Amino acid sequence: MKLIGRIADGSTETKARVILMKEKEFEISSEEIVIIKNGDREDQQILGVLREGLGKNEFLSHTSYKPDVAYMKYGGEPSGSREVYSFLIQPIGLITTNGLEPNKKVIQPRSPVYLCEDADNPFNLITKNIESELIWLNAYLEGHESWKIPALKRFIPYHVGVYGTTGSGKSWFTRHVLIPAYLNSGFNVLILDWSGTDYVPYFKESENVEILSINDLILDEESILSYFRDKTNNFGKNTNIEEAFDEFIEGWSNKISNLYDDEKSVEELYNQLKESVKLSISNIERKDWYSAAERAMRRVFRRLKPSDLKPLMGKITIEEIFENVSNRKVLLIDMSNALSEAKLGFFLAIARHLYSKMESGQNLNLSIIIDEAPQYAPWSKSSFNDIQRETTEMIKNLAALGRKRMLNLTLIAQGIRGEIGIDASVRRNLNTQFFGRIHPLDAGGEGGAAEWLSPYGITPDAMLQLKQGRFYFSGLMNPSPVPLLITYNPI
Ligand SMILES: Nc1ncnc2c1ncn2[C@@H]1O[C@H](COP(=O)(O)OP(=O)(O)OP(=O)(O)O)[C@@H](O)[C@H]1O
Ligand SMILES: [Mg+2]
Repeated sequence: MKLIGRIADGSTETKARVILMKEKEFEISSEEIVIIKNGDREDQQILGVLREGLGKNEFLSHTSYKPDVAYMKYGGEPSGSREVYSFLIQPIGLITTNGLEPNKKVIQPRSPVYLCEDADNPFNLITKNIESELIWLNAYLEGHESWKIPALKRFIPYHVGVYGTTGSGKSWFTRHVLIPAYLNSGFNVLILDWSGTDYVPYFKESENVEILSINDLILDEESILSYFRDKTNNFGKNTNIEEAFDEFIEGWSNKISNLYDDEKSVEELYNQLKESVKLSISNIERKDWYSAAERAMRRVFRRLKPSDLKPLMGKITIEEIFENVSNRKVLLIDMSNALSEAKLGFFLAIARHLYSKMESGQNLNLSIIIDEAPQYAPWSKSSFNDIQRETTEMIKNLAALGRKRMLNLTLIAQGIRGEIGIDASVRRNLNTQFFGRIHPLDAGGEGGAAEWLSPYGITPDAMLQLKQGRFYFSGLMNPSPVPLLITYNPI
C-alpha cells in the first residue's frame, strides 16, 4: 500500500473526496481501490473505490476574468501551483475482524488515503468470513489481473441481467465468465442462441456439450396453437377456424411421427390440415356463420404456407431435452433457420415443462441463457404480439418460482429500458446486473443505467465510454455493496 493523498473538507460517513499528493494525478485512476485510515487510526480503516476525478485551478476559471487567464490569452503558461486533483471515494465498508461492516462514522478530513497495490488484494477483506459461500469468476478487477472476482453462489437463482450496447461484449462475457461460473456452481446450462452466431460457433459437441437445432425438437400442442395463431393473424379472427386448427393439432406427435421433414412430407401435412379445416367448418349449420368461417379460412391459407409447417416437424421431445441437459451439462439450442414465432413457441414449450417440474417440487439446478432477451419480453406492452405476451408472462413466472427451485435466468439485452430494453416487470426479477457500455438513450431517465449506478458515483459519461468487455458488477451476487468494474480475458 502507498500513501496517495488525504481526505478533503466536506466528507460524510458515506462519501469523501481524496486530494491527491503532488504528481499522483499521473498515477491514480478511477476504479482503483483505496483504504482510508479514518483519523489516522489503525482500527478505523475504510475500504473504498475511486470515482469522479476532478481537477481544479481557480485561477483558470473559464467564467471569470483573472490575471492568469489574461496571461494565458497572450501565450503565457499559467501557474500550476494552486492546482488540486481529487477523486470521490465511494466507501465499500469498514474493515473489522468479522469482515466488512457499513461505515457509520464521519470520515475525518485530513485522514490519510492509501492505494491498494497488486499485492494488497482487497477481495481478501471483502470476502472475509464468507469464503464458503463464494464462487470465483473468470474475471478480474479492471487493472489488476490477479484480483479474481468473487460472487455469492446462493443468489444465482435470483437471476441475472447483462446489459450493454451492441458490440459491448455481452455474449462474450456470458460465454467466458457467466457460463463457467454456473457450471462450477453445479448448475447445468441451457443456452438459447437466437441467431445461431453468438454461441454455436464457439462450442464443440463433446462429452459435456450437446448442440441441437430448434427444428429437431417437437413442440407441445399449446405452443403449436400459439404458433399458428401468430402465423394466421389470430385464425382470421374466427373462432370456428381456431377450433378446427385445435382439433387437427390434437395428437400432433403421432401425426408427424412417420413423416420426414422434406418438402413432400411438409406439403402432405399442409394438405391434410387444409382438408381437416374444410371438413370441420362444413359442419357449421348457420349459413352466415359458415360463410364467415369460409372467408376466414381462405384468408388463413393465403397467409400460411407449407414451409411454415417445417419448424413443427421436429421429433425430439422436451423430456428428452432435459434428460440430455442433465447428462451433458451444456445444451445449446441453435435457433437460426426458424421464424421468431417458432423460437418463442419453443421457449414456451420448455418453460411450461420446467414450470410444472418446479410446481411438483423438483429443484432444477439449471441456468437458462436468454440472449436477445427483448425478443422474448419487449419493453412496451403495445409492441407485444400475442406470443410475446405469453413469453413475458412466462419469464416472470419462471423467475418467481425459480428462486426457490434453483433455476437461474440470465437475460441479455442491448438496453435496460425503452425501445432497446426489456419489460419492466421482468427486469425487476433480475437481482444481479452487469452493465457494459450503454446506449445514449439509456444514459438518463427513470430506470436507465444512470439511475442504477449514479448513487455509487458512476457517471453516465463513464458508462458511455466503457471499453469492450468491461462491466459494472452490481446487485445481490456481488459481495461488495458497491458496484465494481470488472473485465476478463477472452482466450
Ligand atoms: N474482454 C474483451 N476484451 C477485448 N475485446 C472483447 C472482449 N470481449 C469482447 N470483445 C470483442 O467485442 C466483440 C463483440 O462482443 P459480443 O459479440 O459479445 O457483443 P454483444 O454485446 O453480445 O453484441 P450484440 O448486442 O450485437 O450481440 C467481440 O467480437 C470481441 O472481439
Ligand atoms: Mg450478443
